[in-house]
Amino acid sequence: MKNSPVEVARSQFVETFKTSDTPTVALAPGRVNLIGEHTDYNDGFVLPMAIDRGVAVAFAQRNDGLLRAHSVDFGETRTAEISKLQPRGVAEWFDYVAAVVWVMRDEGMKPSGLDMVVAGDIPVGAGLSSSAAVEMAVARALNFASTEDWEPVRMATICQRAENEYVGVNCGIMDQFAASACEAGSALLLDCKTLGHSLVPIPSAATFVVMDTGVRRTLATSEYNARRASCEAAVERLRRSNPEVSSLRDIDAHALSAAADSMDKTVLDRAMHVVNEIQRPRRMAEALIAADLDSAGMLMNESHASLRDLYEVSCDELDCITAIAREQNGCYGARMTGAGFGGCAIALVAHEHADRFVADTAEAYSVEAEPTGTMYICRPSAGATIV
Ligand code: GLA
Repeated sequence: MKNSPVEVARSQFVETFKTSDTPTVALAPGRVNLIGEHTDYNDGFVLPMAIDRGVAVAFAQRNDGLLRAHSVDFGETRTAEISKLQPRGVAEWFDYVAAVVWVMRDEGMKPSGLDMVVAGDIPVGAGLSSSAAVEMAVARALNFASTEDWEPVRMATICQRAENEYVGVNCGIMDQFAASACEAGSALLLDCKTLGHSLVPIPSAATFVVMDTGVRRTLATSEYNARRASCEAAVERLRRSNPEVSSLRDIDAHALSAAADSMDKTVLDRAMHVVNEIQRPRRMAEALIAADLDSAGMLMNESHASLRDLYEVSCDELDCITAIAREQNGCYGARMTGAGFGGCAIALVAHEHADRFVADTAEAYSVEAEPTGTMYICRPSAGATIV
């Protein structure tokens, strides 16, 4: 069996830094979003769940203000002086590490120098938020080293700022929030406007299966920014008749339809996806709490259709893998998850059918599609911890 990221980070630390000291290890999870896609940057609701794949950071404190980090995946060690860190508009692995330190310093938190080794088992570019997991594991390590209390909400906003301002990726709050605040056994219902959140226990009869299409997200950044711009254009248009509207959270499908004639068709479609999708996380949370898996699956199917037809962020492989999934015994519903344009989908499957589902879906997908797909049953996991 493959070694866990925690074991890899720990043993590589000893090897890289030629030390006999045992490092401390911080671990942060990847995530899947059960529903509420492209709603976080529209002040809406999301329902992510941390998964049992993550990023481990083995670390020890230094007293000279230096950050020395080794990435197992990239086989590279990088060093920087904390006081000299500046955003450079590049998104290499070390930028995600440095970004968190930079924001913490900017917020007056006095991050300490560290030696660290970063190791993970979240596939990169698959839409499972490996970058948020790196950020959050680094944040957990720095927080531990400075002996401050762990505040998951504050850490989520710090890591989002790190990604927005230092790495230069204009993401919403969902991924970082899931990596900090999720708890084992539950998904997390988050109001991205207020950051109010609550745990939603996953019923024992339900299994979520991650279905990686094997397609890596090439257009993701430019198309993601284009979708954000369409949402802003819709808000701008709606404000002309109602200055109270500050985001798509403030209107419903009825109000949007009333303004349809004055709106570009594409902008209208994008906004229609968002206003409907904002309603789904709370309905899905209710369905999961009631163990009503039929309703939960239906919401997932609706969400996928809307992302495919109105928001246009799906792709052939995501449509194919979700269609195959829906045909299998015990599958309640399936949808793409994350930003889209490739990456992963998820299926809600009856617990007793899960193993069979994984084998049969993988088999059918390999007949229909070119890339090799990978399926895993994922367990609802905890946010960042010190191991
Ligand atoms: C990416 C972003 C998130 C969110 C999703 C789409 O994962 O990082 O903030 O916008 O896309 O729901």
